[in-house]
Amino acid sequence: MIEYSGNLQRVVTAVVSVEQKRQASHRLAHQPAVTITHLSKAFKGIPALQKVSLTVQTGEMVALVGASGSGKSTLLRTINGLQLAEKGEVKIFDTSLQNNGQLYSKSRHLRSQVGFIFQQFNLVNRLSVLENVLIGHLSQISSFRSTFRLFTKAEKTRALAALDRVGILTQAYKRAALLSGGQQQRVAIARCLMQGAQIVLADEPIASLDPESARRVMELLVDLNQERGLTVITSLHQVQMVRFYCDRSVALREGVVQFDGRTAELDDNRLSRIYGAAAEELVQRGHAEIFSS
Ligand SMILES: Nc1ncnc2c1ncn2[C@@H]1O[C@H](COP(=O)(O)OP(=O)(O)OP(=O)(O)O)[C@@H](O)[C@H]1O
Ligand SMILES: [Mg+2]
Repeated sequence: MIEYSGNLQRVVTAVVSVEQKRQASHRLAHQPAVTITHLSKAFKGIPALQKVSLTVQTGEMVALVGASGSGKSTLLRTINGLQLAEKGEVKIFDTSLQNNGQLYSKSRHLRSQVGFIFQQFNLVNRLSVLENVLIGHLSQISSFRSTFRLFTKAEKTRALAALDRVGILTQAYKRAALLSGGQQQRVAIARCLMQGAQIVLADEPIASLDPESARRVMELLVDLNQERGLTVITSLHQVQMVRFYCDRSVALREGVVQFDGRTAELDDNRLSRIYGAAAEELVQRGHAEIFSS
């Protein structure tokens, strides 16, 4: 086991800097990270996504907005191939991930570039924080090593670097279940970094957090977006949060894109036109207190 020490801190810092350069060099200006074309998906005949087309450039941070049931989670899950749409195409960095209901064989590699953060964190509670982060690397190692969770020292150091970046290095050897919600969500973000994800999809990442933890998680996502050019697509219920953290937003209603543009233009009038009375819920719901002080 690697001990936490000043020495380790220096190694971790060096790894972080190499990692940042690696990610930055991967980034190509104005290369689409995600291209969605005419995507349609229904559950038992009821449409969840209707001819959704959307391009997200590398390094963008985009919010998905919409009332409950508008299709935000379904859209995010089709972007990493967790869900198949009947019609339409999803491309990741110009390579097709799914097209007209078919998932491509290269998708394992493609999917490793896409990290996913869930509202309920989805950590393995009985494992340590460090092991949860190392899990992010599983798709890139042999099945023997992954079965027995055999990780090299270099891999552990990278995982510790990821934990350092999200601000919870000192928690590395605790069981994940013992961490607060905000800390657990930061472990989930560290797992995405370990995975080498270039794109992070976050489905209501702050909906289960107290206001202060929510703010810290959003600021971490913004920082990673800005310093590493990580592409972030996040669904958020709270329009205040969207206005504060995301320059671009996409508003869905009944699986149809109703707005795609600068968040500054998604004012209360616009929301009322799209959602009618339901707009009030989007504006008032949750965490508004962060911005009132
Ligand atoms: N696994 C499923 N089986 C059946 N219907 C589903 C399933 N997943 C989603 N749906 C339906 O698809 C539509 C879109 O749901 P989705 O979960 O994508 O909405 P959402 O915008 O994420 O809502 P919320 O804000 O409540 O999370 C809804 O009508 C929902 O009932
Ligand atoms: Mg949802």
